Amino acid sequence: TGYITLDEGYVNTGSAVSDITYLDGEKGILRYRGYSIEELAANCDFIEVSYLLLYGELPSNEQLANFRAALRRHTMLHEDMRSFYNGFPRDAHPMAILGSVVGALSTFYQDYLDPKDPHQVEISIHRLMAKLPTIAAFSYKKSIGQPFIYPLNKLSYCENFLQMMFAVPSEPYEIDPDFVEALNLLLIVHADHEQNCSTSTVRMVGSSDANLFASISAGISALWGPLHGGANQACVEMLEKIREDGGNVGKYVDMAKDRNSSFRLMGFGHRVYKNFDPRAKIIKKSCDILLKKLKISDPIFEIAQELEEVALSDSYFVERKLYPNVDFYSGVIYRAIGIPVQMFTVLFAMGRLPGWISHWTEMHASKNKRISRPRQVYDGQTHREFLPIEKR
Ligand code: CMC
Repeated sequence: TGYITLDEGYVNTGSAVSDITYLDGEKGILRYRGYSIEELAANCDFIEVSYLLLYGELPSNEQLANFRAALRRHTMLHEDMRSFYNGFPRDAHPMAILGSVVGALSTFYQDYLDPKDPHQVEISIHRLMAKLPTIAAFSYKKSIGQPFIYPLNKLSYCENFLQMMFAVPSEPYEIDPDFVEALNLLLIVHADHEQNCSTSTVRMVGSSDANLFASISAGISALWGPLHGGANQACVEMLEKIREDGGNVGKYVDMAKDRNSSFRLMGFGHRVYKNFDPRAKIIKKSCDILLKKLKISDPIFEIAQELEEVALSDSYFVERKLYPNVDFYSGVIYRAIGIPVQMFTVLFAMGRLPGWISHWTEMHASKNKRISRPRQVYDGQTHREFLPIEKR
């Protein structure tokens, strides 16, 4: 009751007080717990950054070793979970599998679902972080009909993921250190982004005291949409289409400007960044280095750069402050690593996981925690007389 402020899309509404991530959209600054992502990306691996997000401080050697060991203990999936994969159609989207299997974790760990029990929460965090790459890699293996490759715990987080994705039984698989480095960088730049759609979803679901697995599964669903994490897949598909269409980027820029067309440049624009997306800068630089090192010439990268140039010299994009975002160049790196396009958003989810969890635990620790329950402005019918069915 009383006065309601209407803010559809939450453009100006703050939903939380948070000390996890600082973002300045005008200056293009992004920091996790006070550290710039440029420095973190240059000096840390993904697990070190995950520790920082989850626990608030960079770990000591001992803390990091303990954290890595805790994750290694939980990388396997319960054997019964394999049967889920038999049930999904072969061409199921891996994001659908990811969300379902993560939700199903709550059926296997029923004694660990109390969000108010720190011990249960801690083990659930380890389980989620450790199992997500396994769940993800199994979904890929399922789609290509290959046997699942079990985790190998002597490997690092990213190495292990690559071997579960690309190894086949009976043949040695050599892990390329350049791929490991690139993957670490991509996961780090995706690791948190304050109150984005999926993180807000995780907080909102968690605000009802739903368990951590259920909350993260909801976040995965929110991320899947093409306006959010699904943009990385949509972007590469768009670039492919431009290539097949003769590489005419101007035509697609014109289409994106056309008010009568619903087409948008995928990987372009952001609710908060109005100058540049610092993540896109890091990724573009890394694309350049990786492709040169691997001696790959990817026509998609050429088209992406041309598209950026044409769009950024067009008043439509300049006036609306639309720049390439994190999803614009990430697909080029995923392709170079050999990751298929349907898996791109899954990789985003793996990166965003520590951010989601940090926000979920921060929300629970807040003394102001209340269930999320926005209000609305009703503009439907006023009271109407009920009509019996024969009179309608
Ligand atoms: N192509 C063409 N026009 C665009 C685009 C685009 N990619 N993005 C925004 N606009 C226009 C939009 O039509 C509107 O124009 P007008 O003022 O004339 O009506 C204006 O720019 C403002 O757009 P908006 O939709 O009000 O902005 P928003 O803050 O609600 O949406 C966005 C942000 C990211 C959803 C949007 O820019 C978009 O749809 N981009 C394409 C999808 C994408 O790349 N998403 C990834 C976002 S970054 C990572 C992540 O969150 O996962």
